[in-house]
Amino acid sequence: MYHLSIERRLREVVTSVLPDANPNIIGVRPCPDPRFGDYQTTALMALAKERKMNPRALAADVVRRLDVSEWCEPVEIAGAGFLNFRIKTSALDRVLETAARGEHLFLQKAPHPRKVLLDFSSPNVAKAMHVGHIRSTVLGDCLARIFRLLGHTVITDNHIGDWGTQFGKLLIGWKSQRDPAALQRDAISEMERLYKTVHSACEKDPALLEQARQELVKLQDGDPENLAIWREMIALSEKQFDALYQRLGVRFDHTLGESFYNPQLKSLVQTLADLGIARKSEGAIAVFFEDVPELKDHTALIQKSDGAANYATTDLATLEYRWETWKPDEVIYVTDGRQQLHFKQVFTIFRRWHPEASMQLVHVWFGAILGPDGKPFKTRSGETIRLADLLDEAEERAYQVVSQKNPELNEPQRREIARIVGLGAVKYADLLPNRQSDYVFDWDKMLALNGNTAPYLQYAYTRIRSIFRKAESDPGATPSADSTAVALSAPEEIQLAKHLLNFGLVLEAAAEECRPNYLCNYLYDLAGAFARFYESCPVLKAEARQRYSRLVLCDLAGRVLCEGLGALGIETTELM
Ligand code: ARG
Repeated sequence: MYHLSIERRLREVVTSVLPDANPNIIGVRPCPDPRFGDYQTTALMALAKERKMNPRALAADVVRRLDVSEWCEPVEIAGAGFLNFRIKTSALDRVLETAARGEHLFLQKAPHPRKVLLDFSSPNVAKAMHVGHIRSTVLGDCLARIFRLLGHTVITDNHIGDWGTQFGKLLIGWKSQRDPAALQRDAISEMERLYKTVHSACEKDPALLEQARQELVKLQDGDPENLAIWREMIALSEKQFDALYQRLGVRFDHTLGESFYNPQLKSLVQTLADLGIARKSEGAIAVFFEDVPELKDHTALIQKSDGAANYATTDLATLEYRWETWKPDEVIYVTDGRQQLHFKQVFTIFRRWHPEASMQLVHVWFGAILGPDGKPFKTRSGETIRLADLLDEAEERAYQVVSQKNPELNEPQRREIARIVGLGAVKYADLLPNRQSDYVFDWDKMLALNGNTAPYLQYAYTRIRSIFRKAESDPGATPSADSTAVALSAPEEIQLAKHLLNFGLVLEAAAEECRPNYLCNYLYDLAGAFARFYESCPVLKAEARQRYSRLVLCDLAGRVLCEGLGALGIETTELM
């Protein structure tokens, strides 16, 4: 029974004494004010209202029939019918013992696992991934990890932009002025150069623009030469993207770019027209939303007057494919906030088209990364910052920090730690703010060893690991039979243990709302609770029984930190 989290146990018990209440409304959550208890249930007020009862009377009735004495001090009724639970220290001891035996790490697999398709990162080919892509990549990857940790089935799909009008100009550039050596060195930069050169030449030369259009038409009509070049451009881009994904520890199950859906677009437009969902409008084909207040003034074009399909058309085809192929329970898109209207339109059209598709459609959007001046983050010369350069700089700066702190480590060791710390710092800085707000990119802040940062958490982890290195060389008093029983007593021990207990609850909340910042803040508080414990409770010098209890606390705190950081996509290190 101690495998179950206490909060879930409490919910079950409360539910069992209210057999005819809807179990979904009975929630148990951590008490907002720990002075009143550790957990509380709030459902009784709503239930009393439903039953036209006095909420305190209902609460008293529930308490009378409730037996939670095994885990809780006597239950208290507070306010207008809250039940407050305070966990007994003996119950904490037992939960810690089961965790120490490896039976759980304060989290449970979802009782009803969902199949979640995550669409994130999705850069455009022949263009460098820039700092704007970092949020989608880091956030999407973190969500994938959290869902997996909770036992859900996750499918990740990188919807790369590999089709579009830019290929007309790229084809001209490729054919007339590509530099094979440059292409070998840094393919994406060379393709960006080709595009820019042709693009600016087209501005002065309408004949060249027409030629670009022709090349595009040839590509769309399946001209073998253009198709081969286009394929090579994609392959070269993907190679560079993959290097970045590998560096970031991000992996995709599928990379089905926009072009994959191209063959479906014509018939899709026809179907929507036949169904009366889309109609002709000034030569184009459009979907109107007269009955959707927020979209009323935002007609969606699914075919332009020149016959070409749109971004939305491709996304509709993509969604149908995903539904038919994987039948997911949920599809989550991670992009910046400027695409909100786009996804509202796509979701609305798709619902009309496939009302039977029961999957949830969610747009998880995020704000911008700003420079110190509060404007979109750019290089000094005003160019967009390439993700690869940003990561290089992160590692370099972390190297300075690490070298200062650990001059005794050798160069490769310091480099490896700097890699872990630098990447961790960038990812954490991205995950910590509320995703919908813009944040200011600040090297000093994100690399600080104290404060709510990845390096602080990684350092807390190394401190825990060093306790175990010392414990090995100093095994302490010989453990007696009862020294494998946990017995918490100091308030700092109890606080730390209670904090560990909420790990699963926090992961569930982060998954529910797609907000990794909940997990960041939880880990930060965990590191704080650990520091307070370690300051006031000697571990290795304690007598055998206490020493064992405290080592268990250290070990579990370290494991939760490591697992939690892992769920954020952040590595840990033994030393730093
Ligand atoms: N390629 C797009 C961009 O860079 C993002 C695609 C997001 N996913 C999607 N299914 N529309 O803005």
